[in-house]
Amino acid sequence: MPVHVITHPVAQALLSELRDARTPSPLFRQYAQRLSVLIATEAMRDLPVQAVVVETPLGPADGVRIDADVVVVPVLRAGLGMLEAVLSVVPSARVGHIGLQRDETTAVASQYYAKFPTGLESSVVVLVDPMLATGGSAVASLQLLASRGAQRMRLLCIVAAPEGIREVEAHFPDVEIYTPAIDSHLNAHKYIVPGLGDFGDRLYGTL
Ligand code: PRP
Ligand code: URA
Repeated sequence: MPVHVITHPVAQALLSELRDARTPSPLFRQYAQRLSVLIATEAMRDLPVQAVVVETPLGPADGVRIDADVVVVPVLRAGLGMLEAVLSVVPSARVGHIGLQRDETTAVASQYYAKFPTGLESSVVVLVDPMLATGGSAVASLQLLASRGAQRMRLLCIVAAPEGIREVEAHFPDVEIYTPAIDSHLNAHKYIVPGLGDFGDRLYGTL
């Protein structure tokens, strides 16, 4: 399974701001949005396009238009911090939602919500969840999407742990992962080290 690491210095600088424990929620949200635009842009590199001709003020110019049905699926709640960024890259995308919550002691994710657009079979499905830790949430989300017909899926995250990457690879070898960071390991509480802490809490100020 290819993992695409976004090494662009602008992306890496934004990631460093997100990692900084002193970054307050309003700035954390802004940096998360800006970084997610860069991740999403890279993740959409292979989208099919249709040739079009547009009229500039000086005459016709060859151009392209995105020719794919894209469905973005944020994993609630932290994935919401990436959603608007992906929509800014592909404004025509439709949106599904998955609600998952990790148990604080076992780190096992349980589902509390799911709603998807129709026709996932022919869509490019973009799962967005900023933290890929054990991989439990990502695999549960991908399994749910696959059970609803999704065939072309990719995962966008902001920090990935090797454990999570291995878990996704074991269950979904064809799902490509886009991330600016593969961190060292998980701690005893299944948090990513060095990571950035609890993404949802930092995004919404629920620390
Ligand atoms: C976080 C994060 C992922 C999950 C990753 O969500 O947003 O969904 O943990 O961990 P995993 O790879 O071990 O499954 P959390 O359950 O904390 O919920 P939240 O988004 O509501 O904060
Ligand atoms: N969820 C988070 O928000 N952070 C982690 O490090 C792991 C899971």
